[in-house]
Amino acid sequence: MEGRITFTMIKPGAVKNEHIGAILGMINKSGFHIVSLKMMRLSKESAERFYEVHKCRPFFDSLVDFMCSGPIVAAILEKENAVEDYRRLIGATDPTKAEPGTIRAQFAESIQKNAVHGSDSDENAMRESYFFFPEIDRFYKDSFKND
Ligand code: CMP
Repeated sequence: MEGRITFTMIKPGAVKNEHIGAILGMINKSGFHIVSLKMMRLSKESAERFYEVHKCRPFFDSLVDFMCSGPIVAAILEKENAVEDYRRLIGATDPTKAEPGTIRAQFAESIQKNAVHGSDSDENAMRESYFFFPEIDRFYKDSFKND
C-alpha cells in the first residue's frame, strides 16, 4: 500500500470546536477513501513517540501537551498520490500561509493548533499508520469490491 495511503489526525482543538464532521466531509469530497478511523486520547508517552523527530525543537513540550489535552481522531486515507494530495488539501503548517479553502485555512487556530496532521512522506505514512492501526483494522477500497 506504500504510495497509496497517508495518515491523518484531527487535533484536539478542531475536535473541541466540533469540526470533525466538516473535516471528514472535505476528505471524502476530495476523493480519499477512509481505510481506518478512531477517536481516542493520546498518552504523553504516545505523543512523545509519535512526534519524536521534533524532540529537539523548542515547541516539542508544548506540542506534546497540546496533543494530549483532549481527544483526537486518527485515520488512514487511501488515494492515488495520497501523501502529496492530502498535503495540498490541508495546506501549509502555518495557517496564515495556508491556501484559502484548505482545511488548515478554515479550521486552524495557530501553527500549533493547526487542526490536522498529515504525513510528510510515504515512509512516514507507513510508520504513522502502523503506530495506530494493525492490519485487521484496515478496510482498503479493494475490500469492498465484491459487495
Ligand atoms: P504537524 O503536521 O502535526 O507536524 C508537527 C507539528 O508541530 C505541526 O503540525 C505543528 O502543530 C507543530 N509545529 C510546527 N512548527 C511549529 C512552531 N514553529 N511552533 C509551534 N508548533 C509548531
